[in-house]
Amino acid sequence: MTTPYGLEGRSAIVTGASRGIGLAVAEELSRAGARVCVTARDPDAVGRAAERLGGVGLAGSVADPAHLRELTELALREFGRIDVVVNNAATNQPYGPLMDADPDRWREAFTVNVEAPLRLVQCAWRAWMGEHGGAVVNVCTEGAGHVGPNVGAYGTSKAALLHLTRQLAGELAPKVRVNSVSPGLVRTEMARFVWEDAEDALGAGLPLGRIGRPEDIARAVVWLASDAAGWITGADLLVDGGTRVRSAHSPADTVHDRLRTRAPDA
Ligand SMILES: NC(=O)c1ccc[n+]([C@@H]2O[C@H](COP(=O)([O-])OP(=O)(O)OC[C@H]3O[C@@H](n4cnc5c(N)ncnc54)[C@H](OP(=O)(O)O)[C@@H]3O)[C@@H](O)[C@H]2O)c1
Repeated sequence: MTTPYGLEGRSAIVTGASRGIGLAVAEELSRAGARVCVTARDPDAVGRAAERLGGVGLAGSVADPAHLRELTELALREFGRIDVVVNNAATNQPYGPLMDADPDRWREAFTVNVEAPLRLVQCAWRAWMGEHGGAVVNVCTEGAGHVGPNVGAYGTSKAALLHLTRQLAGELAPKVRVNSVSPGLVRTEMARFVWEDAEDALGAGLPLGRIGRPEDIARAVVWLASDAAGWITGADLLVDGGTRVRSAHSPADTVHDRLRTRAPDA
């Protein structure tokens, strides 16, 4: 029986789906009945994810427009349709004060975090969604709502992705719904430099008592992609364990303390 959360017979493309939040999203979509097409740069990791999900995969960078076209063609060739696009791949580089930022690396952040989502939606729209409809979910960040130490390129590009989400929602309705999910701190590789050695303390500072798990975000993405969210477009769903409301819970702002004193691998 098809449930409102069910995606039986649908197909989905998920970027950055070899680990972390993207892999959890692809798993949750697959569990809901969708066939999935995954991508990331590491070919072995893409192969493993596709096999585990019984789907297909293509290695490459979302910064490469040809890769996005090939990805769309692959999904259409294998599944005959593209109902869902999840723009999840991102970079948190260049990290550091904006006055030290190399403008070329700044541009790369926008290529991966903003331009690639637009290009992939254009591909999916032209190939299938423009005629048949569908749903797009962009993975933004809770941090896009405010400023923080050393994350100027990341935060600014994610704020642009948030705006792109709303703009596309207006332009692509009623055929295609476009929404975003904004995670708080989640236990993944990208954020390892923030949570490593401090997971319990960071969790204790949050109203819901722990940092996020990839599946917390995945469930929200799948809900927005499903017919259960059929009258929702242009929305941003904050999935942050209460990060935004923590000032009424705890005076600590330990994520920002960590951003100030540590850095991701470049
Ligand atoms: N973790 C958090 O605390 C947190 C908080 C807020 C928002 N987010 C957002 O959540 C999303 C997923 O992040 P995550 O934490 O799950 O990170 P992650 O565990 O590091 O995974 C990132 C995924 O994206 C792929 N990727 C990176 N750059 C890519 C590129 N240029 N082209 C194609 N694939 C690429 C990676 O594989 P390859 O390296 O092999 O390409 C990997 O599959 C991102 O949009 C991030 O901004 C995360």
